[in-house]
Amino acid sequence: MKHMTRKATRHVNQNEGLIFEKSGAGKAAWKLPPLDVPDVDTGKLLGVTERKSLGNMPEVSEIEIIRHFTRLSTWNYAIDLGMYPLGSCTMKYNPRVNEVVSRLEGLANGHPYQPERISQGALRIMKTLSECLIEITGMDAITLQPAAGAHGELTGLLMVRAFQQANGNPRKKILIPDSAHGTNPATAAMVGYSVEKMTSNAQGMVDVAALTAQSNEDVAALMLTNPNTLGIFEQEIHKIADIMHDKGGLLYMDGANMNALVGKVRPGDFGVDVMHLNLHKTFSTPHGGGGPGSGPVAVKQVLEPFLPKPVVITKCDGTLGFEYDRPHSVGRVRSFYGNFGMFVRALAYIMANGPDGLRQTTEDAVLNANYIRKGIEGVYDLPYATRTMHEVVFSDKIQAKKGVKTMDIAKRLIDYGFHPYTTAFPLIVPGALMIEPTESEPKEELDLFIEAMKSIAEEVEEDPQLVLDAPHSTRVSREDQHFWPCVFRLTVTVVTGR
Ligand SMILES: Cc1ncc(COP(=O)(O)O)c(C=O)c1O
Repeated sequence: MKHMTRKATRHVNQNEGLIFEKSGAGKAAWKLPPLDVPDVDTGKLLGVTERKSLGNMPEVSEIEIIRHFTRLSTWNYAIDLGMYPLGSCTMKYNPRVNEVVSRLEGLANGHPYQPERISQGALRIMKTLSECLIEITGMDAITLQPAAGAHGELTGLLMVRAFQQANGNPRKKILIPDSAHGTNPATAAMVGYSVEKMTSNAQGMVDVAALTAQSNEDVAALMLTNPNTLGIFEQEIHKIADIMHDKGGLLYMDGANMNALVGKVRPGDFGVDVMHLNLHKTFSTPHGGGGPGSGPVAVKQVLEPFLPKPVVITKCDGTLGFEYDRPHSVGRVRSFYGNFGMFVRALAYIMANGPDGLRQTTEDAVLNANYIRKGIEGVYDLPYATRTMHEVVFSDKIQAKKGVKTMDIAKRLIDYGFHPYTTAFPLIVPGALMIEPTESEPKEELDLFIEAMKSIAEEVEEDPQLVLDAPHSTRVSREDQHFWPCVFRLTVTVVTGR
């Protein structure tokens, strides 16, 4: 490698072989005591189903097998190894205390079919979390049922449709800015709405004049990601809400980026009618590996009758329970009550931080993103000069002149010991580099990241091929990309038989 970095790059165990390659006849990781019960004739017991041999199984000692799997486990990148600047994904550190609490026996082993009277603790957690989230968002009511952000969007829009229907007309359209998260239009289409795109203005925000022109009695809601995918807060949000409400439409806020707002402003105070939260982003619950997540939906009072059922209530005798008799509800959107373990983790995070701590995490998330912005501004092109919040989006415009694209820079970043940032998203920025450090990162790690990004920019000028061929330090390098479609095809064939 031409440029050295101060961050560890090469893993000592990158060349771990297959477990079969370590196999040696007679080696074993176990030793059983002599049989102290009568022997059983397994042939007689199992008949033709008896397995005579285990086939070609690796024979290894305990230390070999432990090392093998421990080494493999370190090949994956994790927030516990270093910064994970994946914009839009908010890969923040999940404090260990959350895990300790979620593993407490009564919580981890509670069964959803337990009678309410012996589930008061679990119900209290759901109630307290709901109250905290209502306080944080400034909304009036909430459901914790949805299993993820996009599922929250679906739930929210089902409520929008039920509300509009109850007012005599479900309406036809959902307006969505081009700076919205990609799940927004997909969700609107799933709920049966047609999606009308809104082009952002030069500042990367909703064009209020265009919104006024596009808003009419056919529009059920505007779905606004705020801060949007450029990391920009919609500064005219009050006007936007008024324009929607004037024509009987609702304002849906994709609140997955609430980590930029918690403790500073409340969507309920600036005109939002319905919004979802991503607990697995904002409130630190583990993120990745396919879940589980949690996407609570908070609403204003007008939408409360449509919340999914059941909802947690305080009964006349003061105990907690579920209410199922809700004639206007959109119904159940998830089995049982949602991903309970995520509620525990989110509540642990909220309570450990407290109001001041949560405000501080928001400020740190915004500070960290802006520190990176300042650190590499000019080295990378910044397409929108507007102030950014928890994430910042650059473009590869400068490097593209040398034939190097965002994906190449991201792959080179791996050689510097970092997980890549989000590439090629949001779509309104061609060749996007979307960077979100989160509040978890110390200044030292941010400095290493800035240094790595600057160094890659220098490499692009001096030796673009070095970047185009990256990564150089990984076990699997770029050439294997061509292999992926074949693997996928093979998997489909195996699974479907076609
Ligand atoms: C702004 C925004 N909206 C919606 C989603 C979708 O959330 P999920 O992946 O949990 O479905 C995400 C995911 O990161 C997001 O960043």
